[in-house]
Amino acid sequence: MFVASVDGPWLKHNLWKTRFLVKDGDMLARLKSSGVEQIWIDLSKGMDVAPPKDSRPASVAAPAPESAPTQRKRGGSMADELDNASQVLKRSKEAVTSLFNEARMGNAVNTGDCAPLVNDIVDSVDHNANALVSLCRLKTADEYTYMHSVSVCALMVSLGRQLGLDDDTVRDAGMAGLLHDLGKAVMPQDIINKPGKLTDEEFTIIKSHPVRGYEMLLESGVDNERVLDVARHHHERMDGKGYPDFLPADKISLIARMSAVCDVYDAVTSDRPYKAGWDPAESVSKMASWEGHFDPKVLQTFIKTIGIYPVGSLVRMASGKLGVVVEQNAAKLTAPKVKLFFSTKSGMPFEPKLIDLMDPLVNDRIVAREPPENWSFGYLNDLWANHIT
Ligand code: C2E
Ligand code: SIN
Ligand code: FE
Repeated sequence: MFVASVDGPWLKHNLWKTRFLVKDGDMLARLKSSGVEQIWIDLSKGMDVAPPKDSRPASVAAPAPESAPTQRKRGGSMADELDNASQVLKRSKEAVTSLFNEARMGNAVNTGDCAPLVNDIVDSVDHNANALVSLCRLKTADEYTYMHSVSVCALMVSLGRQLGLDDDTVRDAGMAGLLHDLGKAVMPQDIINKPGKLTDEEFTIIKSHPVRGYEMLLESGVDNERVLDVARHHHERMDGKGYPDFLPADKISLIARMSAVCDVYDAVTSDRPYKAGWDPAESVSKMASWEGHFDPKVLQTFIKTIGIYPVGSLVRMASGKLGVVVEQNAAKLTAPKVKLFFSTKSGMPFEPKLIDLMDPLVNDRIVAREPPENWSFGYLNDLWANHIT
């Protein structure tokens, strides 16, 4: 068969840029053991099978993802979901801000109040997994605390669906994401908002936030084990070097492993008082290179939900143009919608142009992510924000 492109966990292998003919069983075995879970083959270039009559000539999808979520209402477009997602985000702001304020004043937090909100977030993610997550990306440093909570909630729901977890667990994962950093409400705010690097002393204080959050939830009468687990254990690491309990991998639950990935991804892609956010595709690739921090399987599944080139990533095209990813195509991680805006050949920007890499008439493809620090584009976020607002 002729492999036209490779989807799925690209972290371990180097195949996904390549198009190649699988000539023999030996090569097939190597492909199978490479960690690749899904490939696209081109029947017109293969040797042994006649294409079925109703297939498109160019490419045909190989098997469906192994954990196809059953509950998920698929097919909602991002455009259809954006209005609803921004309503949900607005309600979240009020709810999460008041939650953190109550906690700060030493009052019990009423997580019952959050349940309808989590339901709304689950519903939005189920309709389109990227709408709410993309809106959450447009946060300023001031809005970080509540937007980060909502973002981690939405990412947990999305990852939970992709992992094939049942409805109750997905809802708990969302609630756990929303409340994971509650302990930060009672950390000294001058440390949280410090524009520079923390001293060892300051970091020691901040490292108490998971236990403080866990205790506050207990004191508020929360008895949901998953929510408590995530509040306490979202900073644990697979190599045992996390905190607060230095748990070894076999003591870290799946939901805590999920929260570590979702938390760090949203943290590193966000602008903070102490540093600018990283490019999303760069963040994914860096996180994959950190030995011992994350559960690799959970991270790979996470990347399936947000894409190899998540919304907001700067990419370089085969044509030499640069563009920003504005929307995922669920069917193919390497073929999102991209807004092109700059020619590296002429060194000049041009009137931004939206292209859909799934469109067979579009004769271009992504060759790599492009480090934004090589350029001084001050308007990358605007390019895709205009697409969604
Ligand atoms: P956060 O900002 O929400 O970050 C959550 C986690 O994301 C961090 O946990 C870390 O694992 C990851 N992360 C965030 N930014 C970076 C980064 O630039 N490089 C790397 N390798 N990882 C990053 P961590 O380190 O345990 O920090 C917990 C919290 O402590 C942070 O939550 C933040 O509120 C605070 N913090 C950590 N470092 C600094 C700092 O240099 N300055 C300030 N002002 N706060 C910091
Ligand atoms: C990590 O392994 O979690 C962090 C490593 C790094 O910051 O480079
Ligand atoms: Fe935290």
